[in-house]
Amino acid sequence: ADGGPDPEKHHGHGRGGMGESVKRKEDKRFITGRGNYVDDIKKPGMLHCEIVRSPHAHARINDIDKSRALDVDGVVAVLTAEDLAGHDLATMPTLMDDTQDVLVNDKVKFQSQEVAAVIATDRYIAKDGAEKVTVDYEVLDPVVTAKDALEADAPLIRDELEDQEDNHIFDWDVGDKEATDAIFEESEVTVKEQMEYQRLHPAPIETCGCVADWDPGKEKITVHLTSQAPHAHRTLFSMVSGIPEHKVRIVSPDIGGGFGNKVPIYPGYVVAAAASVVLEQPVKWMEERSENIQTTGFARDYDMTGELAATKDGKIRAVRTDVLANHGAYNAVAQPSKFPAGFFNIFTGSYDVEAAYGSLTAAFTNTAPGGVAYRCSFRVTEAVYLIERMVKVLAHELDMDPAEIRRRNFIQPEEFPYESATGWNYDSGDYEKALDLALEMADYDHYREEQQRRIEEDADKLIGIGISSFTEVVGAGPGKTCDIAGIEMFDSADIRVNPTGNAVLRVGVQTQGQGHETTFAQIVAEELGMDVENISVEHGDTDTDPYGLGTYGSRSTPVAGAATAVAARKVRDKAKSIAANELEAAEEDIEWDRESGHFHVAGAPDRSITITEIAAGAYMNHPAGEEPGLEAVDYYDPPEMTYPFGSYIVVVEVDRETGEVDFEKFVAVDDCGNRINPMVIEGQIHGGLAQGIGTAMMEHVTYDENGNCTGGDFMNYLLPTAKEIPNFETGYTVTPSPHHPIGAKGVGESPTVGSPPAIVNAVVDAMAHADVTHVEMPMTPDRVWAALADVGLEL
Ligand code: CDP
Repeated sequence: ADGGPDPEKHHGHGRGGMGESVKRKEDKRFITGRGNYVDDIKKPGMLHCEIVRSPHAHARINDIDKSRALDVDGVVAVLTAEDLAGHDLATMPTLMDDTQDVLVNDKVKFQSQEVAAVIATDRYIAKDGAEKVTVDYEVLDPVVTAKDALEADAPLIRDELEDQEDNHIFDWDVGDKEATDAIFEESEVTVKEQMEYQRLHPAPIETCGCVADWDPGKEKITVHLTSQAPHAHRTLFSMVSGIPEHKVRIVSPDIGGGFGNKVPIYPGYVVAAAASVVLEQPVKWMEERSENIQTTGFARDYDMTGELAATKDGKIRAVRTDVLANHGAYNAVAQPSKFPAGFFNIFTGSYDVEAAYGSLTAAFTNTAPGGVAYRCSFRVTEAVYLIERMVKVLAHELDMDPAEIRRRNFIQPEEFPYESATGWNYDSGDYEKALDLALEMADYDHYREEQQRRIEEDADKLIGIGISSFTEVVGAGPGKTCDIAGIEMFDSADIRVNPTGNAVLRVGVQTQGQGHETTFAQIVAEELGMDVENISVEHGDTDTDPYGLGTYGSRSTPVAGAATAVAARKVRDKAKSIAANELEAAEEDIEWDRESGHFHVAGAPDRSITITEIAAGAYMNHPAGEEPGLEAVDYYDPPEMTYPFGSYIVVVEVDRETGEVDFEKFVAVDDCGNRINPMVIEGQIHGGLAQGIGTAMMEHVTYDENGNCTGGDFMNYLLPTAKEIPNFETGYTVTPSPHHPIGAKGVGESPTVGSPPAIVNAVVDAMAHADVTHVEMPMTPDRVWAALADVGLEL
């Protein structure tokens, strides 16, 4: 087997292979306005779909009157649940085995739920028509929080389900309760904290939408879709619609950010597809911003209790946690079916503990359904927040330095592969190395002194220093444990080398801005000795690309990246036989040299041949008895996930007068194993840190007590902009994954997962001398000011 690229020699051999900061191939079209997004698709005779949405969070529908809408010139049809029922499309399965109304059948269960759809010749006419649909609602009492939903007298939301007598969905637990409880009983020190991971929305720049086009001649539907997982969506579309899968083509053109929001199937897609089949015309549905935030997959919404048991000198012995999860009106979380709480059970983080136990209860509420993995591997973000916050709480209790307490508890490099107390198999890590580098970059000792000085001088602005030494889990599969709606989470690559020596790589994942067209070409360049310019990457068309499970949870590099390397090595193997033919040598004497990228006869480096010459040979002079051509496919089922990690250090200045928080220093040291493109990685880190700052400081999908979504547009759901983002200082260490063919781990979600606890730890740290142990996110100035005022630190 090929050991893959050597991490010590990361220079890419000058051909744009591993380790080179190759400029992004896709950027030429993006920065010259030639991107092609779903809303850019225009087809002859295309109709437009607008959804009529409920103003109420909980209401029975007595009647829907379409007549005034149908009178509008240009309105072609008005659809309700009754119409869809005629095509067996009244409901659709969610990703978690629940059944969601496509258009409300009987009872509205959250504000802005889809009630009817208007199809018209123009988007504005469709909107006019939607305003004229008259719906008679009987308003019911809503219940908005998971806690209230589980009260005995709470209104029953899912009364259409047989056997559903309350709003409880499921209970789940993991770990050894008895052993954990026993350690808590006998431990010298225990700490406990209550913390909320607020409801967020991934809020990609491009909202969700589709253009569905039924071809009655071919009896085939083509759907241009804002999809992070085109193949999985093809299978689901076929299952929902009854159209055979080979007659369904999903095309994801350029995607303007997904972050987990484009993993589920939404009612708008189903309505547009149904309308296209019935009307035999293309139908476009494209959400507005408020529709996106108010109705499509939200993230987080976990109410968590964390507890640590430790010795007096700071050795953590056990972790215990209990969670209340708000799943909204349907159980539509996007995660592998065997993981009802996603990967939350990785909550022991980077630390070697004796025992751990976690429990979780999920509830229905009158809020939008979701629980998607927003730049996250299925709830790992919540888990990392929990443990990294709790370590800070313990450090405070013991009056220990938070860097030192981490050092005492890290899983050590020689302990890998490491099995955690909740059964996860960490592949590799060197946590202390990353922390040491981050401490040095952050000038940690200087800021500790400055912090003390400000306290002693009773300064107006306090200094806080926060650390997060997180461990991530990315790259789902393996197929035996991870699936989406039953389909195993492998991924794929198909490489075809042309007679003139260039190649096309097709992959089953779907880029949404991560730069796959560049980085995946770099893997092929590395493994075949080709120039990166000679490789193009195609994805997002189910008629031509190999089946894959899509891009989310930073799985592209760990899974499809691995498939790409293996497929390239298969091509290399075949290339050897062609090289032997061309060089008139025995195949077993042909060697490939990673450095030069050439094939040569063993012991005679001068008798060499390039992949370009071999490509010509494969088509023009192929060896007798062998197939012509030069191509290979690989479907890769990873043996394990990969475990990237890092240490982030945030220094903040907290204004005692206004509660405002300024970032003084923001250091991020990441380890994603072998690095393909350092520049792309840095871009991923910067973007993810910005989202982490949004999480910690600004973003929150809020509801009032009537179930009105009060945080459902960009006036009220605040996203960070360039103004709020500080200068980031990034660093890295390289600890290759031992099981990945090129030693790479994923990286895209690390900064979003790892940074919120560092930021909260920093703000809490600024007030720690007055014994503040927690401030809830988002840490808006009023919340921070209230926390200061609580302990008399306000000015
Ligand atoms: O699945 P997704 O693309 O969102 O996440 P990822 O696999 O972490 O990759 C994000 C981007 O960073 C891709 O362009 C990767 O190829 C690149 N990357 C890299 O250059 N080196 C790594 N070790 C990991 C990712």
